[in-house]
Amino acid sequence: MTPLHNDTFLRALLKQPVDYTPVWMMRQAGRYLPEYRATRARAGSFLDLCKNTELATEVTIQPLERFDLDAAILFSDILTVPDAMGLGLYFAEGEGPKFTRPLQDEAAIRALAVPDMQKLDYVFAAVASIRRALSGRVPLIGFSGSPFTLACYMVEGGGSKEFRTIKSMLYARPDLLHRILDINAQAVAAYLNAQIDAGAQAVQIFDTWGGALSDAAFQEFSLHYMRQVIGALKREAEGRRVPVIVFTKGGGLWLEALADSGADAVGLDWTCNIAQARARVGDKVALQGNFDPMALFGTAEAVEAEVARILAGFGHGSGHVFNLGHGINQHTDPAQAKVLVDAVHRLSRPYHV
Ligand code: CP3
Repeated sequence: MTPLHNDTFLRALLKQPVDYTPVWMMRQAGRYLPEYRATRARAGSFLDLCKNTELATEVTIQPLERFDLDAAILFSDILTVPDAMGLGLYFAEGEGPKFTRPLQDEAAIRALAVPDMQKLDYVFAAVASIRRALSGRVPLIGFSGSPFTLACYMVEGGGSKEFRTIKSMLYARPDLLHRILDINAQAVAAYLNAQIDAGAQAVQIFDTWGGALSDAAFQEFSLHYMRQVIGALKREAEGRRVPVIVFTKGGGLWLEALADSGADAVGLDWTCNIAQARARVGDKVALQGNFDPMALFGTAEAVEAEVARILAGFGHGSGHVFNLGHGINQHTDPAQAKVLVDAVHRLSRPYHV
């Protein structure tokens, strides 16, 4: 393997000294980039793009050609895992992801099993190909959905605002939901370990919908299973630690618990005060995120001011990876993303002397 030329991101996740605060953006490869839309059109569809090694590699690298990012993230989707379980993933134009066979009766749930990882070989092939294309430029992040977030899509059959179906199951038949979550946790651990074997240098667990749960339900149905996943992950590869980032959107109330999950870093959405978050997690974990993706719709000066405010909030020393508090919006002007990335690098140096 080629040596890593820029390991600032990995060092910050482990709270080791850095010269500046590293930055990447959730959904950095995506529809806000015209070159992404062109490649997706060549692939045919989003899923065809995920399954095409060469084109998935191309779109992963695209944002790095425009912006001075400190990490790349595998181009794929969290729903590849339930697709491999046989639920039949498809994307209805303008409606987001859907499953043809959602888990809505007991028989289907009893039949659910950890998928053969060979069904996900296209993901591991993309990881290996992206590592070759990066040739040590920056580290590559692998990812998965959390067991609970995957279950939301698997039970609802698609996106949801109220989560009425899965919450009905949670309160009426918790045994059935626990069975799904147990299988998901095993599948996610195997999936992330296979990404690490293929070359992922850090991994992130996206718990996008954990924040929709009550405090008690979050502990029992989301955090518990993320702990199981984290406990089963390989933590070293190529002679280096493979850091784990856990991101519960809306999880600001549970920072101490997330810091105790076994992860190296905790993702923050934009609703938290990062200075208070740092005080609450102490030395346990690094923090990632905190910039409201919608702030990219302000002026360039407003973007810089918001970057400055977050950097000052975190304060001196290592342990912060700058990021958005959720994925970049598809209507974002790429020029504004460049303003953000450059501002993070320029304005963070005084905090690392
Ligand atoms: O960050 C990156 O650049 C890596 C790629 C990535 C995608 N999805 C590509 C994608 C990652 C890390 C994801 C994670 C993901 N996927 C999550 C968790 C994070 C989050 O955003 O909350 C979730 C919930 C999904 C499920 C999913 N996939 C949804 C809800 C959608 C539709 C959303 C939308 O914006 O329309 C997708 C599709 C998807 N995944 C796109 C991309 C670039 C858009 C597909 C397109 O090109 O039309």
